[in-house]
Amino acid sequence: VSKRSTRRGFLSAAGAAGVGAALAPGAAAAASAETAAADNQAVGFHGAHQAGIATPTQQYVQFVSLDLASDAAATDLQGLLQNLSAAASLLSTGRPVGALNTGELAPVDTGEALGLGPARVTVTFGLGPSAFRRVGLAHLRPAPLVDLPAFAGDELQSEISGGDLCIQACADDPQVAFHAAHDLIRLASPTATARWLLAGFGRISNSRKQVTPRNLLGFKDGTDNIMVEDKQELDRFVWAGAPESPAWMRGGSYLVVRRIAIALTAWDQTGLDQQQQSVGRYKVSGAPLGEKREHQPPALRARRHGELVIPASAHIRLASPSANDGQRILRRGYAYVDGLSNGQIDSGLLFLVYNRDPRKQFTPIQRRLANSDALNAFATHIGSAIFAIPPGVRPGGYVGEGLFG
Ligand code: HEM
Repeated sequence: VSKRSTRRGFLSAAGAAGVGAALAPGAAAAASAETAAADNQAVGFHGAHQAGIATPTQQYVQFVSLDLASDAAATDLQGLLQNLSAAASLLSTGRPVGALNTGELAPVDTGEALGLGPARVTVTFGLGPSAFRRVGLAHLRPAPLVDLPAFAGDELQSEISGGDLCIQACADDPQVAFHAAHDLIRLASPTATARWLLAGFGRISNSRKQVTPRNLLGFKDGTDNIMVEDKQELDRFVWAGAPESPAWMRGGSYLVVRRIAIALTAWDQTGLDQQQQSVGRYKVSGAPLGEKREHQPPALRARRHGELVIPASAHIRLASPSANDGQRILRRGYAYVDGLSNGQIDSGLLFLVYNRDPRKQFTPIQRRLANSDALNAFATHIGSAIFAIPPGVRPGGYVGEGLFG
């Protein structure tokens, strides 16, 4: 390519942009202003529930699991939760977590989010079963916070599983999400150190205001999710309550994390009919098999020529409330890509599930899926963790304070 043609190309591109701008300057400016405004909204840190659960799923996540120091006491955990909550409250408004002008000392805030705006960042904290044992509070572990049972086909790796403490940092800007995780990991040291971390993009939707996005299989994901607008469903299936949760957990939730590797190469070579029968929905429209539109209810009993239209092993049949005693879960997962493994793309689903009692919701649903889901031919659970997510806090309070009251 000669300099001349490059230059001409550059000029004509600039010219075209100029024409576009001249044709519809108002519309273009309004659209970009709207996007910028949406990106820069703040989600309050304080309230009855922690933000980042019944918050419309943001575009990106950085999920961190940490371990407490082996000699940490309950008071160390308390101090840590106080510090992290104070920092998260600053982050939620787009402010730095500490001084930047520190002379010969390292700045407290690392600085990479300066000037970016809050981008709907939320930070959600949780405590794993091991945290209660580690600091001598095993007697206060909420009953729903069980060590998850083993499921058929599990190939869990301990270095990407478990953890005493979790930080789910979500935002519509990947740098803002990373900054939150980065600075909270720094502030947690040396009381707690990161055990594993995974970044995600490509959310599962959970709001009627979102157009259902597609997962890495190319299917719409979030169609039949619990929606954040459905307060009754949240009360029934998401927020911790009496009698199974202790008073200090009410208004909190339980988060199950599964890192599910997806064999993309095998999936990409699979015929469309088999793909659709595995999910139980059409790929392009997202409609249940046998229907026309995405949000039509699946006809689970319908048969054609004697065969079930939605096969017995279809993912949406086995995961449906009617196959699971009416139980539902709030899915808030993300796609992840983690480089290559043996020359194949190492990617999958960072599955984040909020439920009121995993013993009645996640575990029985996952048991059914683990035994019969057609998607199992392409999916392997390689990481697992569970966390109690304490309720939200008032200004000046800190996450988990009820545990120490
Ligand atoms: C590789 C892993 C997985 C993939 C690719 C996947 C994908 C999907 C897709 C495409 C749908 C249909 C659209 C929708 O309603 O959102 C769906 C629905 C659903 N999935 Fe999954 N999923 C996976 C794992 C799981 C796991 C581990 C669980 C729970 C233990 C689960 C629970 C559900 C539920 C409850 C629904 C809604 C079913 C209904 O009410 O009709 N999924 N999933």
